[in-house]
Amino acid sequence: MTNIDEAVKILKEGGVVALPTETVYGLAGSIKSQAAIQKIFQIKERPFFDPLIVHVNSIEQAKSCTHHWPKCFDILAKEFWPGPVTFVVPKNDSISETITSGLQTVGLRMPDHPLTLKIIQKLHAPLAAPSANKFTKTSPTDYQHVKQEFPDLPVVNGGKCQVGIESTILGLENNEILIYRPGMLQKSDIEKTLKNHQLDIPVTYHESPIAPGHLKHHYMPKLPLILQIGNQLAKDHIPNNIFKNPLYWDIPDKPTMAARQLYSKMRELDKESHSCLIFKLKEQYLVQEDFSGIVNRLIKAASYTSPKNFSNKT
Ligand code: TXA
Ligand code: MG
Repeated sequence: MTNIDEAVKILKEGGVVALPTETVYGLAGSIKSQAAIQKIFQIKERPFFDPLIVHVNSIEQAKSCTHHWPKCFDILAKEFWPGPVTFVVPKNDSISETITSGLQTVGLRMPDHPLTLKIIQKLHAPLAAPSANKFTKTSPTDYQHVKQEFPDLPVVNGGKCQVGIESTILGLENNEILIYRPGMLQKSDIEKTLKNHQLDIPVTYHESPIAPGHLKHHYMPKLPLILQIGNQLAKDHIPNNIFKNPLYWDIPDKPTMAARQLYSKMRELDKESHSCLIFKLKEQYLVQEDFSGIVNRLIKAASYTSPKNFSNKT
């Protein structure tokens, strides 16, 4: 286990450390170290076209990474930071193109975890950090998850992540706020805050084609995962041998619980002695806004859905 001062020392020397946040654990390097940024991509086996999120410990520090900090994001950051929301803004020279994969924008987030905020404060620099898992695999939401996947990596133990799925990512294009990736901060929360500040800006779901979190398959466990919507399992399109020895999980009714447990269940149940995981979701949750982030992750993690074609209205 790595303590705060050891973590700061490693980061100052251009190393990488896994750190807790309220969403998922991140694999962090100082934005000032090109070597650290390259190590992050190597360790994750992440393609260089997938940009990293930069973590800050204040709005002031966020402003130091961009040449344009929009008023609407300032209002939202004041309301929801530290918290599970990332703002994509134009980058300035303090952010290298290795971090942003050549993009001229950068995703900024102030995570809600005292240990990581302390580390950023002691380092005097923001941290670039993707989720601390191999590319396309399930994000870690507990210290043990990271240790199991990367036994040699220094990891700061912050216990279990309270939110459990990755942040909501927002962009601003043509005076419209776009939700590039849904999360536990909801569209209606954003709209309500803007309205309270007399800002009339539309908010729409718009998966970013440049964000590989939006690849069709992502967040996947090793066993085939079947997302069962409703009570009936439609099996026609699924190979029969998969059903030899399934493990079931009923997705909790409370969205905060469902999100908090989702990735741990994927890891905990992902045992070779079983043939597949069947995660059962009540149909009404497909249209419930506070399940939108959870449903988004489930669809990307699933090898099969039942029914095969369904309409996802969130
Ligand atoms: O909650 C989170 O966001 C966690 C914790 C560690 O903060 N981080 C996380 O990072 O989920 P990562 O790298 O696993 O996912 C970040 C997503 C990626 O899909 C990436 O493509 C997208 O954010 N992204 C990063 N910078 C972007 C940009 N400038 N424009 C559009 N998408 C961007
Ligand atoms: Mg990730």
